[in-house]
Amino acid sequence: MKLWGGRFTKETNQLVHNFNASISFDQKFYKQDIRGSIAHVTMLSKQGILTEQEKDSIISGLTSIKDDIENGTLIIDGTSEDIHSFVEAHLIERIGDVGKKLHTGRSRNDQVALDMKLYTRDEIEETDLLLKKLLTTLLSIMEKNLDTYMPGFTHLQKAQPVTLAHHLGAYFEMFKRDRSRLFDIRQRMNTCPLGAGALAGTTYPLDRDYTAALLDFSGPTLNSMDSVSDRDYLIEFLSALSTIMMHLSRFCEEIILWNSNEYRFIELDDSYSTGSSIMPQKKNPDIAELIRGKTGRVYGALNSLLVTMKGLPLAYNKDMQEDKELSFDAMDTVKGCLALFDGMLSSIRFCKPTMAESAKNGFTNATDAADYLVNHGVPFRDAHSIVGQLVLHCIEKNIALDDMSLEEFQSVSPVFQSDIYDAISLKTCVEKRLTIGAPGKQAMEKILVQYRQYLSQQ
Ligand code: ARG
Repeated sequence: MKLWGGRFTKETNQLVHNFNASISFDQKFYKQDIRGSIAHVTMLSKQGILTEQEKDSIISGLTSIKDDIENGTLIIDGTSEDIHSFVEAHLIERIGDVGKKLHTGRSRNDQVALDMKLYTRDEIEETDLLLKKLLTTLLSIMEKNLDTYMPGFTHLQKAQPVTLAHHLGAYFEMFKRDRSRLFDIRQRMNTCPLGAGALAGTTYPLDRDYTAALLDFSGPTLNSMDSVSDRDYLIEFLSALSTIMMHLSRFCEEIILWNSNEYRFIELDDSYSTGSSIMPQKKNPDIAELIRGKTGRVYGALNSLLVTMKGLPLAYNKDMQEDKELSFDAMDTVKGCLALFDGMLSSIRFCKPTMAESAKNGFTNATDAADYLVNHGVPFRDAHSIVGQLVLHCIEKNIALDDMSLEEFQSVSPVFQSDIYDAISLKTCVEKRLTIGAPGKQAMEKILVQYRQYLSQQ
């Protein structure tokens, strides 16, 4: 059934119907569409626009449609233009003429704006739960690895030693920020567009506050033209999803590096790796690579919607129908990636001796050797230069700073004493770093208390 045949004298061209129709993808929010319609008729009857009986009949019709879609007896086919027409047509078929009153005081413009908001709100919640699960996994790995030493890098060159707990803590912070972004978006978007009509409100005495409350919104939107043409919240959500993917992708990149033959910091579980059809020795990090790869597709959705929206005059324009497929794809992609990543991360085996050995090489304690001199009264710039000379000496002899004799140390600076060895040991280098946010165990333990508290409260 068409919702708008009256002023037309010709049938719609079949190609036009196919091009115009959105049912193949907007059927994804049938549940939200029906929920919105139930709230709408509940409000209409409270306002005396529909009788109690009409409302009950419409609600039972809508509920039966939802049930039948869910139990598989009602198939959403391609004959309707969109999910809104599909539901209305089936309602009329089931309950007769009273079904024709459903659309009183409403347009598909405010209806689709509502459906998309309800759907996005649900997606925000699901994404948040997955992020929380990932944070819980991260925290449990961190708790077990406060003493797992590894090199920290800058420019992908060994810089200073850190711990695995500290390194993973950086990702904990990122995903925590992602959750707070989702929270902000949900707060800001949580106003109900239903009742805005096509663009200019309606002449019926709708109670928009009531509809908003029925649908758990903080209140109604305040400008009917904006209500039907606002997709800011989707752009914000796609941006937050892109940032989540950026974080996952950086993490994946590290997992791929750590899993390489050169690093060997980790071993991926067999159940999260794949093999090669030709090279029998291969065990590939395909899941991490795919998550890294899918990041592009989520960025694409954000960019695409920004471009779609940029030239649209007020109010509703059909261009906006293009918000759906790419948003749905991005939402599903991110949820899939989060779930997969969590499984992969929790099954990783960390090769601690290799990580510690790597942290010992590459002069990661050079800064601490310079700090030793500073603590003995040498100005930092001079200390930097002295240790630079020592490093050069070690590179020539192919040894580490710790391998030098005290005489070798003293030949460059007499300030060095035998306690230098303890001062530049791997353990000292890490454990002495106790400023807030630093890798030392005591500093990290305080942060973990905060993280545990955060996860139990939010
Ligand atoms: N399928 C449309 C969309 O997704 C629903 C709104 C249609 N409104 C209209 N005036 N044609 O945007």
